[in-house]
Amino acid sequence: MCGIVGVLGQHQAAPILVEGLKRLEYRGYDSAGIATVHENRLDRRRALGKLVNLSDLLVHQPLAGTVGIGHTRWATHGAATTENAHPHARGRVAVVHNGIIENYRELRAFLGEHQMKPETETDTETVAMLCDWHLTQGCGPIEAAMKTIAQLEGAYALCILFDGEDDLIVAARKGSPLAVGWGQSEMFVGSDALALAPMTDEITYLEEGDIAVMSRAGAIFFDAAQNTVERERRKVNVDASAVDKGGYRHFMAKEIAEQSSVLAAAVKFYLSGREGQTMLENDLDFTNIDRVVMVACGTASLACFTAKYWFEQIAGVPVEIDIASEFRYREPPISDRTLAIFVSQSGETADTLAALRYCAGKAGKIVSVVNVAESSIARESDVVLPILAGPEIGVASTKAFTCQLVVLAAMALQAARQRKVLPAEALSKLEDQLLQMPGLMADVMTCEGQVKAISQQLARFKDAIFLGRGAMYPLALEGALKLKEISYIHAEGYASGELKHGPIALIDDDMPVVVIAPHDEMFDKTVSNMQEVMARGGKIVMLSDAKGLAEAGGETWQQIEVPQIEGPFAPIAYAVPIQLLAYHTAVEKGTDVDQPRNLAKSVTVE
Ligand code: F6R
Repeated sequence: MCGIVGVLGQHQAAPILVEGLKRLEYRGYDSAGIATVHENRLDRRRALGKLVNLSDLLVHQPLAGTVGIGHTRWATHGAATTENAHPHARGRVAVVHNGIIENYRELRAFLGEHQMKPETETDTETVAMLCDWHLTQGCGPIEAAMKTIAQLEGAYALCILFDGEDDLIVAARKGSPLAVGWGQSEMFVGSDALALAPMTDEITYLEEGDIAVMSRAGAIFFDAAQNTVERERRKVNVDASAVDKGGYRHFMAKEIAEQSSVLAAAVKFYLSGREGQTMLENDLDFTNIDRVVMVACGTASLACFTAKYWFEQIAGVPVEIDIASEFRYREPPISDRTLAIFVSQSGETADTLAALRYCAGKAGKIVSVVNVAESSIARESDVVLPILAGPEIGVASTKAFTCQLVVLAAMALQAARQRKVLPAEALSKLEDQLLQMPGLMADVMTCEGQVKAISQQLARFKDAIFLGRGAMYPLALEGALKLKEISYIHAEGYASGELKHGPIALIDDDMPVVVIAPHDEMFDKTVSNMQEVMARGGKIVMLSDAKGLAEAGGETWQQIEVPQIEGPFAPIAYAVPIQLLAYHTAVEKGTDVDQPRNLAKSVTVE
């Protein structure tokens, strides 16, 4: 959340900064701004709302200069207003920031004693004020920046620009990611390598506490103790086209459609390729543990919940799941016979990272399942299992969810193999079922026409309920989450059998109920619960295969047919119609599908 970018270039900085911000806009879109130094003078432009507003402003009020910093904001301290937009500038200093400066009140009090008053509601402005104060005390820009950074508490990725300095950016990282990019007599800095992809593929990832003093000639790195250090410069393979909609109307549509191909890569890596298989075999030991603890947030936590069914049913391993914001303060006992798994698309989610740190040194092993291999969560793990989904730009997670499920399913199979709880034949049947999943994902997409038609109806309602049983229960929760976050329809997911214990009171003619009911061993029970809803006037959208719909779909309001899917991994394929339902309902309602209100991807604050 919040994207930052900086350039020390040979060309005009403003268009390069805006291009970088475009690639970071998924991290926040409350406001955007840039600052440059031109003819030794610091100047800035800021605009409320989407990046396009800043681009429009720059047409009328261009900003010259070949050095600059930029920011796209997800508001934390202070409302989304132009005044609170970054870059924040005080005196000779401009700052862009991702994170939270926790001691900003104390710093403000200190600055107040020196007659410096804040002009915005933000924590970030304090950084600019403090740095400017150090300048007034006779420090040079680099010294002022270093002293300022040493006084900050909290989480930050920062870029600092100085009036009168057109060959200097000071960048710092603590708790929020930052990457320095190398060019030919040009230097770049950004929240991730993706932002820098059109400019350079040579990257240095800053470590926790690092400061980079950058000029066009290169960068000097300092560690948390402010001693100079060497940091590795490496080529990264970021596909710049990954942030292209590829002909689709929205990133979310593209990301739903490409699940078949990205899942094929993940399944190959973990089941039929050597590399992933070796990792599972050599780096994980399920024979010396008492339990697995899985922690994550949002959709990633629902991937964990689904996997709990697999680990317990297939491998006989007790699994505890929790959302990271609760887990981190609950003080759960963790022993060295606990395998702790953290699942995160971005690898930067603050709560998940804090939960991981709680387990570090207590759990037998820390395993992360991430999409971003260079992320903080990955760096602090003993074992990193990539989900291989490729960049996910739509704020609502889709392909990352199903890839997370594939990796967790492969882990559950590995656990069963190591613990010898299944006959070889049964295990290889399950492996085959997982191997078939990418093909099934493509087949399931054929339901899109039906889903689209139903979505046109669903868009008229204010509320919805999703029901599922067994491993389809977490998917019911995911269906509700997806619908509410992008269509703004209030939705809740329940275990089918739980409905009669309270929520059934909500059922009436205005309450569509999506029932996820594959024709499996739970089918009859789910159908009984569905009948209870129909008896009370509930409008059922039944999601099942041909057999299920033939047996019980007759009297339902709407039906969505998916292919017959054998085995426990069916939730992976059933995720597709659930995602499509949210997507088409949102499109029908005309909401901002890829950048829904109030949300941001990569939640780096608590
Ligand atoms: C929902 C969604 C979020 C994320 C959650 C965790 O569609 O995308 O609920 O799943 O914020 O994010 P990561 O996986 O980056 O830790």
